[in-house]
Amino acid sequence: MGKPKGNKRTLPDRIKALVIGGGGREHALVWRLKRSKSVEAIYSTHAGKPGEPGGNAGIRSIAQPLDFDFDIKQAYRVTQFIRANDINLVVIGPEEPLAQGLVDTLEKLLKKDPGPEVAIFGPCAEAAQLESDKAWAKQLMRSAAIPTGEARVFTDERGAIEFVRTREELPVVKAAGLAAGKGVVVPSSRSEAETAIREMLSEQKFGEAGRRVLLEERLAGPEVSVFALIDGQNAILLEPCQDHKRLGEGDTGPNTGGMGAYCPTPVISESQLDIVARDIVIATLDALKREDISYRGCLYVGLMLTPAGPKVIEFNVRFGDPECQCLVRRIGGDFGRLLFATATGRLDLLTPSDFTLNEKPEEKFVCCVVLASGGYPLNYQKGVPIEGVEDAEKVQGVTVFHAGTTRADGELKTNGGRVLTVVATGSTIAEARDRANEAAERISFVGKTYRRDIAWQAAPVPGLAARG
Ligand code: AMP
Ligand code: GLY
Repeated sequence: MGKPKGNKRTLPDRIKALVIGGGGREHALVWRLKRSKSVEAIYSTHAGKPGEPGGNAGIRSIAQPLDFDFDIKQAYRVTQFIRANDINLVVIGPEEPLAQGLVDTLEKLLKKDPGPEVAIFGPCAEAAQLESDKAWAKQLMRSAAIPTGEARVFTDERGAIEFVRTREELPVVKAAGLAAGKGVVVPSSRSEAETAIREMLSEQKFGEAGRRVLLEERLAGPEVSVFALIDGQNAILLEPCQDHKRLGEGDTGPNTGGMGAYCPTPVISESQLDIVARDIVIATLDALKREDISYRGCLYVGLMLTPAGPKVIEFNVRFGDPECQCLVRRIGGDFGRLLFATATGRLDLLTPSDFTLNEKPEEKFVCCVVLASGGYPLNYQKGVPIEGVEDAEKVQGVTVFHAGTTRADGELKTNGGRVLTVVATGSTIAEARDRANEAAERISFVGKTYRRDIAWQAAPVPGLAARG
């Protein structure tokens, strides 16, 4: 990678992009690509079909559809489409296709069907193990002395339960594989820990993903997400974000995919960020290189700021959702070229017109609020009519990204657990949140569920008691 033979080391002035994935994160990516000077066309796996309902309603309004139903097992159809439409940038949003090796497959197929250079944004399957195999990731971190909680891996229930019984402190129970954000249990009692172990190892609640379980040291401190764009060699750190995983205000209720985020967060200092860059991001790249693995794409480092310094609680191999919806409002320049450079080992070629952070004072901070369906993250209804999105976008600084929506019979309807992400910029974190909340109020659908306290860690919420 990096310097493909026969290609000059330049960045293209004309980009045709294909974005794979159909949630709020991918709508944000498509939206931001649309605002790139170099980007001439955008295709999406979730733009529906012409003349038929379906697809993500937000993505559909920007991107063009494929002329076949996307199926990861038929990657050859994707490469045929790439060649037929002169696509030169593929952006893979979610973790599953990365873990399943879509990057590797597309690259192999494209080699067999030679043509212009195609940049594929996202890591290969081996590198994606940072997210898809927590035991592997832990081992890699240990080999490079990267700060993270101690952990042991178990495959049998008895051994794991025995371990829990002999320890004074309750460990965190993690399924080693991908479990759609549900594979982590932070137990409050020994019996809760044992139930989690039993469900994963014996009852196979998470199938293959839970056949190995990590029992991990419990860490404490504020959580921060740091995103790095990595081109195999170089890394650019984006602004640190804080996600809000719990469903309810005050960080109460069940864990979700994420109910809101903001950036940049002041919770992590510049000097701590330097430590993260050197001792975690670069150290991880070096450790991967020693395994002969090259990482290209976005690396998401989930951190806990412990009294002993920042420690890794998880790696993800993609942008966060909803953090991405915030980040795209901070990143200036030509996003298409930025992603192309990342995917081809050319971050060193970027100029300020390719990548900057917005300097406008009124866009210094971003806050996003997720509107979820009633009942999420458990059972929820689909097909509920949504009103007020246009009105919400009239609030200064606001953009609404679609996650689980579709347009049917000319009407916008819910089509998932997380329905919309309302994003607002502001000159302060509080201003960004106020605007996002005002816009969120203007949107209505039966069951609408959201938190009004996003960014409470950085900007106190009037009327809500301080928390720590
Ligand atoms: P994850 O799915 O890995 O993001 O984990 C979900 C949540 O579990 C995190 O956001 C943390 O709040 C919590 N968590 C994960 N690992 C630990 C740990 N070692 N100690 C304490 N909490 C943790
Ligand atoms: N925001 C959490 C995630 O994307 O996994």
